[in-house]
Amino acid sequence: MPAAGSGLRFAADLPKQYLPLAGRTIIECALQPFLADGRCVQLVVALAAGDARFAQLPAAGNPRVSVVTGGAQRSDSVLAALLSIAAADDEWVLVHDAARPCVTRAEIDALLAAAKMDPVGALLAQPLADTLKRGAADGRVRETPARDALWRAQTPQAFRLGPLRTALTAARAAGRVPTDEAQAMEWQGQLPLLVSGSALNLKITEVTDLALAAMVLAQRGASP
Ligand code: CTP
Ligand code: MG
Repeated sequence: MPAAGSGLRFAADLPKQYLPLAGRTIIECALQPFLADGRCVQLVVALAAGDARFAQLPAAGNPRVSVVTGGAQRSDSVLAALLSIAAADDEWVLVHDAARPCVTRAEIDALLAAAKMDPVGALLAQPLADTLKRGAADGRVRETPARDALWRAQTPQAFRLGPLRTALTAARAAGRVPTDEAQAMEWQGQLPLLVSGSALNLKITEVTDLALAAMVLAQRGASP
């Protein structure tokens, strides 16, 4: 779980993953389905250097949870976490953003069911519904790109430990910064499988996203 960002776009006075949501914090909501899932034998959380907040959460005391220091980019944080895992290269790892607190067991099940049949791996994603516009500096439309076949990539993303570690290491060595795990795999010539997810698996980027997440969890009856 990459959790080493500082939440610049959210612009709160603390990193957004530690903001309150549904009676706990965003990161605790994001961890919850994995902590509750017996298939998940180890959870590694990548924290910013000097983070003193995670250690205060109950999850920090769970023996399946460990922490590493993340890096300057999300992909550095993910790689740091992967490098700390002592497991066979063909073990599955799921990478999930601390900023995505509404993922469900059903979505994780669908992702794993698809990934397990796949030689490469898979990611949750959603087909684009809106018409897209490419804008320019003058605030005017330059073009309307075709939206067919375009998806919004989400997390979790499921890959085998060895190949994902190799892909992220190769990207870093080449000075390239993938914005998700799938992109690093794509740069290795792999074609990850898209697994249709839900718009409710939203990422908290700005203040309005947090209000939406609170509504989603309240409707599910989430309690601390
Ligand atoms: N992340 C990370 N290490 C980084 C940057 C981001 O582990 N160097 C994590 C964030 O903590 C978050 C996830 O990656 O859980 C997705 O990133 P994003 O939503 O962009 O969060 P931030 O980078 O914190 O926000 P912003 O880009 O607005 O600064
Ligand atoms: Mg970011």
